[in-house]
Amino acid sequence: MTSDVRRLLEAHGRAEREVYMDNENSGQVPPEVVEAMLPYFNQVGYGHPSITNRPGWEAFEVVQETAEAVARTIGADPEDVHFTHSGTEANNLAILGVARANRSRGRKIVVSAVEHLSVILPAESLEDAGFKVVRAPVDEEGFVDQDVLAELVDRETVLVSVQTVNHEIGTIQRVRGLSEVVRDKNADVIFHTDACDAYGRVRIDADAMGVDMITLSSHKILGPKGVGVLYVADGVRVEPVLRGALSSQPLWPGVENVPAMAGFKRAIELAFEDFDGANGRVSGLRDRLMDSILDRVPDALLNGPRGEERVSDNLNVSFLHVEGEALTVELSMRGVYVSSGSACTSRILEPSHVMLAIGRRYEEAHGSILFRLTRYHTRDDVDYVARQVPEAVERLRRISPLGKG
Ligand SMILES: Cc1ncc(COP(=O)(O)O)c(C=O)c1O
Repeated sequence: MTSDVRRLLEAHGRAEREVYMDNENSGQVPPEVVEAMLPYFNQVGYGHPSITNRPGWEAFEVVQETAEAVARTIGADPEDVHFTHSGTEANNLAILGVARANRSRGRKIVVSAVEHLSVILPAESLEDAGFKVVRAPVDEEGFVDQDVLAELVDRETVLVSVQTVNHEIGTIQRVRGLSEVVRDKNADVIFHTDACDAYGRVRIDADAMGVDMITLSSHKILGPKGVGVLYVADGVRVEPVLRGALSSQPLWPGVENVPAMAGFKRAIELAFEDFDGANGRVSGLRDRLMDSILDRVPDALLNGPRGEERVSDNLNVSFLHVEGEALTVELSMRGVYVSSGSACTSRILEPSHVMLAIGRRYEEAHGSILFRLTRYHTRDDVDYVARQVPEAVERLRRISPLGKG
């Protein structure tokens, strides 16, 4: 494997211009964020946040300040902000922790069919423990319908999980309305929303959204990898999933990633300092790219909604008669870095469950390409990508067995 990657990289070389638009899966950390992290490796706060010595207290201060920064931006109390080391871990904690702590109340869990796999898979793992797990269907733009969700909720339901924004097709769910209909059916249901792809782009407020738990991940807002968050409203019972030693995070023990938290805090400040302005610019660039690609490439389908109900930075297009993986490689050679479907599924070449849930056929799902922009992209970047994509698709269609001939 290692040598395969090395050979690939040697053959790949470097394009004249590079535009990274795979920020959905991860990406470059801005220099200001890196700078905020550096002192915490070896100058201050390099101790253990639970230990009573100076470097330990300095580390604990970072944990507290990061919790305060998160709390301020989601309308929560800092004590209700719990850290993990990724969004995946926070979602696992939400699903497994709530199910285990509340199993005497009921054994039904409802998750939307387009959730990230870090919600769906832990939920389905509970089937062995006697839980019934139901996937709420979505329409062709990825929306969960209120009436359909209400139908699925009953007295046995302990947990409902519907994301705020879809990670592949950018659909912004109407979470408030969904939580209302769920509570009308059963006031005791715990409502979780995975907001990893909404944070910094869509306003999040626990009370206004009517949710009990929220998942966030640092690297989804250009922070470093290695910090996740689970907000848990006061009074919601969650059983720890991991057991371990002393930690300031009893729900997820293990030493906190303090340098990454310092970076996450800086990334939050940057994401919120010009929230509307930056998101407006990004959606303008995204629309320019979308219009250009859809105008120039025949047999290209937009996945997900248009307009206000699509998150500002997401573009997902299915190119018929091409294999998405082949297109990511062709584009990579041209210095355009994007992904096909979701990273979680692309390595195993299964069509993404999100694409199938919105009714895309296998070949449409396989040809889907995900672009995610950031506030650092320029019009020149977008125009470069808009020129490369039609050429790359055309070349692959000419040589591909899937091509029209
Ligand atoms: C919606 C959503 N939830 C959860 C995750 C998992 O977060 P992490 O990569 O921090 O494990 C992702 C990651 O891409 C995501 O897009």
